[in-house]
Formats: sequence, structure tokens, C-alpha cells
Amino acid sequence: MVNLGVLVVVTLFWETINAATLGVVYTEGGMVEGTNIRLGFRRHMDVFKGIPFADIPGRFEKPKRHPGWDGILKATEFRKRCLQVNLLMTSTRGSEDCLYLNIWVPHGRSVSADLPVMVWIFGGGFLAGGSMGANFLSNYLYSGQEIADRGDVIVVTLGYRVGTLGFLSTGDASLPGNYGLWDQHTAIAWVHRNIRSFGGDPDNITVFGESAGGASVSFQTLTPHNKGLFKRAISQSGVALCPWAVNRNPRRFAEEVAIKLNCPTDDRMVACLKMTDPASLTLAGSLSLSGSPDNPIVYKLALAATIDGDFLPDEPSKLFHNAANVDYIAGINNMDGHLFTGLDVPSINSPLVDTAVEDMRRLLGSYTKEKGKAGLDNAFTTYTSTWGTNPSQQTIKKTIVEIGTDYIFLVPTQAALYLHAANATSTRTYSYLFSQPNRMAGLGRPYPSWVGADHADDLQYVFGKPFTTPLAYWPRHRDVSRYMIAYWTNFAKTGDPNKGGLKVPATWPPFTTTGHKFVEINSNTDSNSIRQKMRMRYVHFWTSVLPSLPGNNAL
Ligand SMILES: *[C@@H]1O[C@H](CO)[C@@H](O)[C@H](O)[C@H]1NC(C)=O
Ligand SMILES: *[C@@H]1O[C@H](CO)[C@@H](O)[C@H](O)[C@H]1NC(C)=O
Repeated sequence: MVNLGVLVVVTLFWETINAATLGVVYTEGGMVEGTNIRLGFRRHMDVFKGIPFADIPGRFEKPKRHPGWDGILKATEFRKRCLQVNLLMTSTRGSEDCLYLNIWVPHGRSVSADLPVMVWIFGGGFLAGGSMGANFLSNYLYSGQEIADRGDVIVVTLGYRVGTLGFLSTGDASLPGNYGLWDQHTAIAWVHRNIRSFGGDPDNITVFGESAGGASVSFQTLTPHNKGLFKRAISQSGVALCPWAVNRNPRRFAEEVAIKLNCPTDDRMVACLKMTDPASLTLAGSLSLSGSPDNPIVYKLALAATIDGDFLPDEPSKLFHNAANVDYIAGINNMDGHLFTGLDVPSINSPLVDTAVEDMRRLLGSYTKEKGKAGLDNAFTTYTSTWGTNPSQQTIKKTIVEIGTDYIFLVPTQAALYLHAANATSTRTYSYLFSQPNRMAGLGRPYPSWVGADHADDLQYVFGKPFTTPLAYWPRHRDVSRYMIAYWTNFAKTGDPNKGGLKVPATWPPFTTTGHKFVEINSNTDSNSIRQKMRMRYVHFWTSVLPSLPGNNAL
């Protein structure tokens, strides 16, 4: 016994002094040192928090290269998120000094080299969010630790400007917009130049993101400025073709912001905005997040990308040739629209209040308004065709969520998958539907029992939360998390979600222009979960029937 104890102690000691670690790392800006953590027997991880990838940005300017530093930069704390409105939009939080990234590097018995790299772009409506995500008792949503450990990949999470400071635009050269997208691009380019020193393979980089981050990933594949910087991309619940991803009349919102700040709206406007203090500028970008069927929330998300002739030289649908060289996964949650339609038509979440069919008609009328009465009539017929004569309240409520999901996420994602597949001759395209029911489904407002996967429900599984906080989840949730981490990291390694070392629950076939195959991901995923032509009838309506109707096409 004694000898065994000594052996254990000696082994632990040996493990500790032999901890695989990068130690001090040389980057283009100077030396950085992170924290080394022990994850298990012969398993360590170096974590670097708050490495600058650009200088403090000038107001409404593209990011600038960091001047560098002397000595060793201690990269042990997350930096502040970019200046943004708080949750209630009553004040601001964060800093203009926010262009930093975080890196998780797993090691086995020796220090890693040439690992695949996954770069995360957070979501938050281009209005809020940070590279580390929300945190509860120092458990950060976007900690890369579980993905890095389980998938044996490097995870990087980046910060970028949001709100007015990230996206305000006059639609011309005086305030072109897209500053936040340039920040993301600059971070990706930094990773490409520096990740080898961290044990990463610069020719094996995947960008991934969710919601506005998913749309950002899509923009990063479509811009001509990222040629050769990354190989693969994953868009979760958001693509560049979403109706909220591009603002085609950004000047209108810029003038609203100017009026709130007592700036003139004529040719003195930009000079006045540039002189305004950043907190006031940020607050002036607050949005009212109450919707109605006649004025749905999706149209209020005014801070978005612009067609600036530089980052985006043209309409996103005309830029898919630029994405031809990246492997691409895009997918949605089966009730992504629930969060949004619940704000427009609150009665859908109430078991006690009936939802009027008229509310659904008004919402459809808003979504189809360029086509007038013909658009609405067609849409209404399409969405009620399976109703029978006496639809239940649940049918009406669910149909409203389906309409929101289709219009805000599902249809644009199918269109993006199609354009990617049509242009990708040497790369692959994959489509998924995430349908693990919300954990609160049936526990009361705002989650009736019929709610599936709401917007952002996928994040906790991709980031392995059922493993980091096991008491908050059931074993089936750990299955979902295991499946998603396997698909995502296999894809990052090989461009094929089925190959790369981790076992998957079903072989996920590529999406082709004729096959339109996809996998449905939930705790029951198996070989019966491969499907085809997601919501074809509704995709056909929005992409073909509606556009062919006469009407005012100018947005
Ligand atoms: C490829 O993408 C372009 C946009 O860049 C699009 O117009 C075209 O239709 C796509 N190619 C095919 C074969 O569909
Ligand atoms: C990427 O990483 C995987 C796994 O480490 C490796 O098999 C592959 O050769 C790497 N390179 C490229 C270009 O895919």
C-alpha cells in the first residue's frame, strides 16, 4: 500500500513537472503567456485570454494594426466586451478598447502542433455580445474548453464592435459601415498569421458562429477580402441572405440616431456624430424590442451589414463565387422563430389567451407587403392548406412560429445552401435541422409544451455545457452535446462531419443542388434522421412563388 501511495505521488509529481505547455508564445505583437490547466492524466490545456489582434479602433474606422508591446503580455483575463447597450437598453457597458481574442490549446502527453483551428464569432443582433459570452459563476458560455478538449482542436473566440460603433452607416463613403465585420476579418487574418506559434495549422481554419454571428460567418465567406485565410465555415441560425442581415437603407437609421443626439441631418451630420461621446452614440442605437404583427421585430434590427462596395462589393446573393473554396455547414433550429413571433404576437405563448387567425394574417401581410394583396392571399393559402375547417389553438399558434422561423431563418438558409452547393465544385455543403426541445418546454410562459428548439438553444450543446454543468442537464442532453461536438470538430479537421476521429450518430450526407439532404440533430439522432428537402412547399413559396408575383420589388 505504502509503495502504491508513493508511486501515485511520484506519478502526479512527474505529471506536473512534465505538464505539456507552450509556455511563453511569440506573436507578431510581442510575447504572450497564458494559463496552463490540467484536465486529466496526460491532458493539459493552455488558455490565453485577451490577446490584442488590433489597436484600439478609431471611431467609425477600419481596425488598425496593433503597435506591439515590450516584455511578456499576461493573457490571463478576458478583456471588456465592445461598448454596447445593456440588456434593458438603459445604459452602456464595455469599452472601445475591445479588439481582443481568446485561445484554448489542448495538449496530450507532448505539446501540440498543427492542430485544426475553430474561430468563433458570437451573435447578439449586431447589437450586443462578447467573445466570452454571458457568464454564470465564472462559467462562460463561449469557453472553448470542452470543444478543444473533446475535439482536439484549437478554439479561438474573437471580439468585434457592435451597435452604432460597429455598424452605423450613411450608405456612402462618409460612414460606410461594416466596422464590426472588418474587426472579424482582422481577427481571422491575425489567427492565420500567428496560430502556428500556438500549435495550430494555419491551413486548417474553420470559422463558426450563431445568429448574427452565423450571418457574419456567411459574410466572411462572401467578401473577397478573406481569400486563403480559412478553409471551412459553419453558420448556425443565420446567413447573409436573412432579411435582418443587411440594411439597404442605412441612412434612415443614421438620421434617427443623429436626431436623438441633437445632430443636424444634413451634410454636417457625420462630423457631428464623430464628435459625440461613444456612450451617447451607443445608447442612441437602442432599439425598441416590442413588436406587433403590423410592425414585426425583425424589421427593427436596423444595425446590420451594408453593401459598401468594399467589404461587400455587391448583394450577398451575387457573391457566392467567393465562397466556392470553403466547405460549408449551415442549419437552423426548428423553432428559431419562436423568440421573435412571441414578441410580435404574445398570445402564442399563453395557454389562457386565444390567438386570433387575424393576427397571423397581419404578420404574413407585413412579411409580404411588397406584393400587396396577392402576396398575402397566396401566403395565407399556403400556410393554412393543411388546417382543415376547424384549426385548434395549438395549430394556429404553431403556424405563427413556423411562419416566423421560415421567413427569418429557414428559407434564407436553404437559399444560401443552394447557392453554395451550386458554386462549390471542389468543396462540400452540409445542411442540418436542430430540434432538441427547449429544456423549459411545458414549464410555463414563454415556453408552451409544443416548443421545439428555440433561437440560441443550440449554443449550450455546441459549447459542451451539459458536461461542464452536469447537474443542470439529463444524460440525453450530453448525447446531443457529444453529437454536435463530434460533427463540428470532425468537419473542422477534414471538411466532412463524419470523419475526423469522433463517432457520430448518423452518417450526414452532403447537400447537393438536386438532393437537398440534411440531418436532424436531437438526442434521438440515428440513421433514420437523414431527411430531404426541408419544408419544400414553404421554401418554394418564399423563393419562387412570391418573387414571381407582380408588385413593388424595390425594398
Ligand atoms: C454561384 O453564385 C453566383 C453568385 O456569386 C450565383 O449568381 C450563381 O447562380 C451561382 N452559380 C450557380 C451555378 O448557381
Ligand atoms: C487538417 O487537420 C487534419 C487533422 O489534424 C489533418 O488530417 C489534415 O491533413 C489537416 N490539413 C488539411 C489541409 O486539411
